[in-house]
Amino acid sequence: MNASIIDGKAIALATRKALRSRVEALKERGVTPCLMVILVGEDPASAIYVRNKEKASEKLGFAGGVTRLPESTTQEELISLVEAYNADPKVHGILVQLPLPKHIDERAVLAHISPDKDVDGFHTMNAGRLLVGERCFIPCTPKGVMRLLEETGMELSGKHAVVVGRSNIVGKPMALLLLQANCTVTIAHSKTANLAEICSQADVLVAAVGRPGLITANMVKPGAVVIDVGVNRVAEKKVVGDVAFEEVCEKASYITPVPGGVGAMTIAMLMQNTVEAAERALS
Ligand code: GUN
Repeated sequence: MNASIIDGKAIALATRKALRSRVEALKERGVTPCLMVILVGEDPASAIYVRNKEKASEKLGFAGGVTRLPESTTQEELISLVEAYNADPKVHGILVQLPLPKHIDERAVLAHISPDKDVDGFHTMNAGRLLVGERCFIPCTPKGVMRLLEETGMELSGKHAVVVGRSNIVGKPMALLLLQANCTVTIAHSKTANLAEICSQADVLVAAVGRPGLITANMVKPGAVVIDVGVNRVAEKKVVGDVAFEEVCEKASYITPVPGGVGAMTIAMLMQNTVEAAERALS
């Protein structure tokens, strides 16, 4: 089999375009969606991610922007800024870019973001709501993956989904969303024994570990849908995923490339969550 490529870039673009009319409708009611992004320190990868979020926000005509703080910022200073944005009715979405410098407790900072402005969906309240199936902000990357799966037209109900990775940002919420879609879900991780055997049972295989080329063709069931969340910088200008793309293409029915797959969807979903936050603030 030669897998069809799921064009995340094109789907993300269409998703962002579709948001324009919702932004216009909000503006007609006197509301401009406002996303405040906070970046602490000089991590080069984070700086690129944040710049892309800023560009996407500008293109959609959002208010807000990026607050760049020095590495030496204290936890208290960061929390004070988050609280100022919580209190500002003009701000609809707050995003603190991760990872934070080592001297700052990430969970403590995320806990201070108002759950109603938590467009990343990282606050415990949103994580809990996702767990029990209540309306919530869904973390952008797994939300984007669900959108890509929808695009394949595949019926998810009853399928075996294997998620490799158990992070709070991707693996865990991904598993919950697939469960909500009536998949039978297995979560695998770095301590999983016989990873190859488990992966090779998957109708839907989501790789989100951050190990270049971890998923090889022998780990993939013929006809499986393979989603690669990995972003691994292997050279100055070369980024690869967790999936050995060329050989897995021979086995899968659908596959996402890196770059051009999941990454673009993450930003599109962030834009969608921000529009949703602004709409909710009105209702
Ligand atoms: N770092 C890597 N991915 C993300 C993300 O989706 N949101 C935030 N806030 N930080 C990240």
